Amino acid sequence: MSKIEFKNVRKVFEGGLSVLNGVNLSIENGESHIILGQSGCGKSVLMKCLLGIFKLSEGDIIVDDLSVNDREHRKEYVKKFSVLFQGNALFDSMTIIENVEFGANQVCKDKIKCKEIAKEKLLAVGLEERVFNLYPAEISGGMQKRAALARAISLSPEILLFDEPTSGLDPITGGIICNLLKDTVKSLGVTSITITHDLKVAEFLSDRVSVLNKGVLTWTGHADDMKNCGNAFVEHFYKASNIILKK
Ligand SMILES: Nc1ncnc2c1ncn2[C@@H]1O[C@H](COP(=O)(O)OP(=O)(O)OP(=O)(O)O)[C@@H](O)[C@H]1O
Ligand SMILES: [Mg+2]
Repeated sequence: MSKIEFKNVRKVFEGGLSVLNGVNLSIENGESHIILGQSGCGKSVLMKCLLGIFKLSEGDIIVDDLSVNDREHRKEYVKKFSVLFQGNALFDSMTIIENVEFGANQVCKDKIKCKEIAKEKLLAVGLEERVFNLYPAEISGGMQKRAALARAISLSPEILLFDEPTSGLDPITGGIICNLLKDTVKSLGVTSITITHDLKVAEFLSDRVSVLNKGVLTWTGHADDMKNCGNAFVEHFYKASNIILKK
């Protein structure tokens, strides 16, 4: 469990594209926070800034007492996080269990213990032993998501990041994965940040929601209050999410 503080975070890419324009946000210990926003608004960039993958152009991100800008304590900072990436990021040339062992190996050097951790985590996310020795391409998208989650939790993180956890999944499988994420976060007692453009996911998983618009967090609050929050963009986003498309 960790507290996360974004302080005036700016990210400008080479060539001058300004993606994050002063993000301020405090996420509490054990909170399940959602970052909601349109495609291309900078959600994944924000996550990569948090992880230190992208260097901040300005500002700071403090996790507990460590800064993302502090290169000396880099390892300690990075160890706090585990990520479920948008495309799962499983290694194609490794079996499912090898993928999870690879994760476990980041925190445990004993090979036999890593295998035990991998088995335990795969079973915890609902994968049966028959898929352990298959390759990612041989299992369904929902199973891949479970395997990626097993690898993420095998690192014993304090913070779990989920980038578009339901993208590419049918609504039923997406719902099952959402339930699994919620149960996992609860049972591990971690702080979590979920990035999504799906309002239903936000409503289901969140303690609080932040809405990102053109690189600025325009609103933070409870999902139930989005509808009438007084912020034109947030209300527009809410309404657009509930439109039933007509022929
Ligand atoms: N490495 C990079 N170099 C330059 N520009 C980048 C880089 N990564 C992302 N961008 C730009 O940053 C902007 C925001 O991208 P980002 O991937 O954060 O969007 P997103 O909100 O996650 O969208 P989606 O919902 O489609 O995943 C886009 O214009 C993108 O082209
Ligand atoms: Mg993205």
